[in-house]
Amino acid sequence: MAKSSSSFSCTSCAAIFPKWSGRCDNCGEWNTISEDKGISSGPPSKSLGAKRGSAMVLTDLSAHEDPPPRTNSGLAELDRVLGGGLVPASAILVAGDPGIGKSTLLLQAAGAFASKGLQTVYVSGEEASAQIRMRAQRLGLSDAPVRLAAETNLRDILTTLETERPQLAIIDSIQTMWSDNVDSAPGSVSQVRAAAHELTSFAKRRGVSVVLVGHVTKEGQIAGPRVVEHMVDTVLYFEGERGHQFRILRAVKNRFGPSDEIGVFEMTGRGLAEVTNPSALFLSERGQPSPGSVVFAGIEGTRPVLVELQALVAPSPHSQPRRTVVGWDSGRLAMILAVLEARCGIPFAGLDVYLNVAGGMKISEPAADLAVASALLSAREDVALPAETVVFGEISLSGALRPAPQTENRLKEAAKLGFTSAIAPSGGKAVGAQGITLRTMSDLTGFVGEIFGAG
Ligand code: TYD
Ligand code: MG
Repeated sequence: MAKSSSSFSCTSCAAIFPKWSGRCDNCGEWNTISEDKGISSGPPSKSLGAKRGSAMVLTDLSAHEDPPPRTNSGLAELDRVLGGGLVPASAILVAGDPGIGKSTLLLQAAGAFASKGLQTVYVSGEEASAQIRMRAQRLGLSDAPVRLAAETNLRDILTTLETERPQLAIIDSIQTMWSDNVDSAPGSVSQVRAAAHELTSFAKRRGVSVVLVGHVTKEGQIAGPRVVEHMVDTVLYFEGERGHQFRILRAVKNRFGPSDEIGVFEMTGRGLAEVTNPSALFLSERGQPSPGSVVFAGIEGTRPVLVELQALVAPSPHSQPRRTVVGWDSGRLAMILAVLEARCGIPFAGLDVYLNVAGGMKISEPAADLAVASALLSAREDVALPAETVVFGEISLSGALRPAPQTENRLKEAAKLGFTSAIAPSGGKAVGAQGITLRTMSDLTGFVGEIFGAG
């Protein structure tokens, strides 16, 4: 017998629980569990197996499939993150903090795709059409052939899209959409899930590309974009720090392209401008070489990007010293501190450690390990690294240095920006680049000895 009890789900990670609790057991967030109303948690009716369905058409794995035709917007930073332009009938989620610039980005994207001939509809559940027109004016898009609507009723939206049949529909935002099939408030997990499901299946059924905007929510009753990540083909995060102009569009999932690609933009008074040379931008605020500052030669997707890492190490007044990281993984920082202590005998006990990736950039490459270790040591010893030097390489728990992929691309980018030397792990295909003196080392102890004269 099907029970009609309700279920509970986490607004952050969408995990489902039979009862309410204060903290999500799955993602560890507090106050994110809310009740799903209007969704039966019982098993499906048992008539399913009794009736016969129609037979599926099975095809061979080897069947030839042409790659999907893509449309480029002409915004190269966006096209690259999409995997080389927009794929028809694809469902895309663009997620980010409120106020980061999602609506600005998508209105610009709408204008760009529309002027490339795609019939484009922009539906806003957050702003009135007059407001959107004002923004379009500011962005210089008043004449772009984009059709607008301010609407939150999903049934009306789908009916309109069904008759208009655009090639691209932008829904801003998924948390404001409201489906009358589900009887709970807009923004709840079940509403967001239902609205996203209806829109993505519409995209597949009718060959319309759909872009869903999702606000990242910290806590409370509004469901976060993770609830819909599994339903869409492509998940893009729009990131940036408040107080910084840089914005990074990052693919975290892409069925039609690489999933680690980034696009870099700058928020200006007239909308988002593309940044074609991100390294120059990220390094633009760098001053004289100083202790704790190290330039990491990274790779983001298919592109080399140089960023400055800044570390501060100071005696701690606390019994539990602070470990504060912005733009990098705190677990990985703990690991590097442990390796420095265990393998090189350099303790950080009793010291507060702060690590910051300059410019509001977030990095996740393991190849940043050696640059992080350099910044930490440089700060701790109060010794600046040699000027015009970039650092990269992965550190293993044994203290061995592992070569990073795409060494040559990293070095070329460094040379292009005026760097003259690089420190990297030995082994692998250690190819140099013109104008760069490459110093290679095989383990962290050797690195500490050679660069900081200790260890
Ligand atoms: P918005 O796109 O509304 O953010 P989201 O949709 O992610 O909530 O962007 C809001 C911010 O961007 C706002 O603080 C103003 C700023 N902005 C500019 O700096 N320049 C511009 O041309 C525009 C349109 C917005
Ligand atoms: Mg918005």
